[in-house]
This record gives sequence, C-alpha cells and structure tokens, in this order.
Amino acid sequence: NHKAFIFDLDGVIVDTAKFHFLAWRKLANDLGFDFTEEQNEQLKGVSRVESLKKILKWGDMKLSEKEFNRQMALKNENYLSYVDEMDNAEILPGVPKVLDYLKENDIPFALGSASKNARTILKKIDLDDKFDAIVDGTDVSKAKPDPEVFLIAAEKLNTKPENCVVFEDSVAGVQAANIGKMISVGIGDKKVLQEADYVFTDFTEIEIEFIEKLLRNEK
Ligand code: BG6
Ligand code: MG
Repeated sequence: NHKAFIFDLDGVIVDTAKFHFLAWRKLANDLGFDFTEEQNEQLKGVSRVESLKKILKWGDMKLSEKEFNRQMALKNENYLSYVDEMDNAEILPGVPKVLDYLKENDIPFALGSASKNARTILKKIDLDDKFDAIVDGTDVSKAKPDPEVFLIAAEKLNTKPENCVVFEDSVAGVQAANIGKMISVGIGDKKVLQEADYVFTDFTEIEIEFIEKLLRNEK
C-alpha cells in the first residue's frame, strides 16, 4: 500500500474561489441582500446546491424549485465568464513544483473537487493530463464535509485512505479529509483551517522536504 496525494481544485490549484465569491455575491445582490467574506468561508468546498441553500438562508429567502434552478444556472453562467478568461498563468505559485516532484517520483495523485466545472478548468490551465485520477462534482452524491469525493479518489489511486494526503483550502474539505482518516493539509488562514493537520498560507511555503516527510509518515 502506497502513499498518494489528493488536491482540491478551487482555491488550491487555482484561485477560482474568488470567482465563486463574486458570482454568488452578485446573485445575492440581485435578490436584494449581501453577505460577507467571512460567511463566504462556509461556501468554500460546498456543492452548488448546498451553497445556494445557505445563501438563501442568510437572505431569509425561499425560492420555488424552478427559480432555485434558474438562479443556480445564472450563477454558473456568470462564474464561467470568469473561467473563460483563464489560462495556465492562473496556476497558483508553488503548485507546479509539487506536482512535478510527485510525477518525477512516480507518486500517484488525484484531483478531488466538488465542482462540476473541474474538467473545464483543468483544460483551461493545461493540467487535464497530469492527474492519475479526477474525481469531481459529477462523480459524487454527497457534498464535503462528507469524505465521498476523497474516498473515491483513494480507490482510483489504488490505496487506503490512511495513505492519502489531502490539500484543501476549505473548512468543509479539511473536515472531509479528517473524517476519511486522511492527512489534511490546509492552504490558507491558520485560524480558519485550525482542524487541519498542517496549514500553509500558500504553496510557496511548502518545501519538498515537507512532501518527503509526508511520504515517510502515517497519520
Ligand atoms: C468547490 C468550490 O470546489 O466547488 C465551491 O469551493 C463551489 O465554491 C463547488 O460551489 C461547486 O462548484 P461548481 O463549479 O460545480 O458550481
Ligand atoms: Mg477549494
């Protein structure tokens, strides 16, 4: 049984978390209310449906099923207008170094994302061929913090969850990794991601020595 790595996409490999925030905020504003960046932390890693449910609660609003679906489609359209402008310059600093190291050393790694747009984004940034497996929002039925997405990724990488290391920028994703008995590495604010086994502000803080240490250790 071998070590394997799983990467979240939005907010870990690319900074699309900011586009999700802009698009959800526009939706709220159009419905006549607003929410804060702090509230937005609760949306990170969470599926599209669950995100809209949370936002409507904040605005104390209810929508018919038809209107709910229409708003989700509008949000996605707006979000994709940002994604459309992306290219591989959007890959976050420090990420290629880690992915290249894993590739060169034959350590398998997967994408584990809640997004249904994951494959579109990977194509935009030329990373669609790099991962040994891709598990995204089209493959799962349970949203993070349910570990389903990471457990499927572990299976596809032919290893046990205990051997997996997960990189995540969201509270829900860190919880999903922990519930799945994987090692969790938070990318972002230490105070927000305090449940993670390790936290770094971004990938430029991650040295190859750290990756080597992870390869030696069990949780
Ligand atoms: C996650 C994002 O990766 O994917 C969430 O952190 C987003 O903000 C979720 O809502 C679903 O993404 P999409 O692209 O399918 O709407
Ligand atoms: Mg994320």
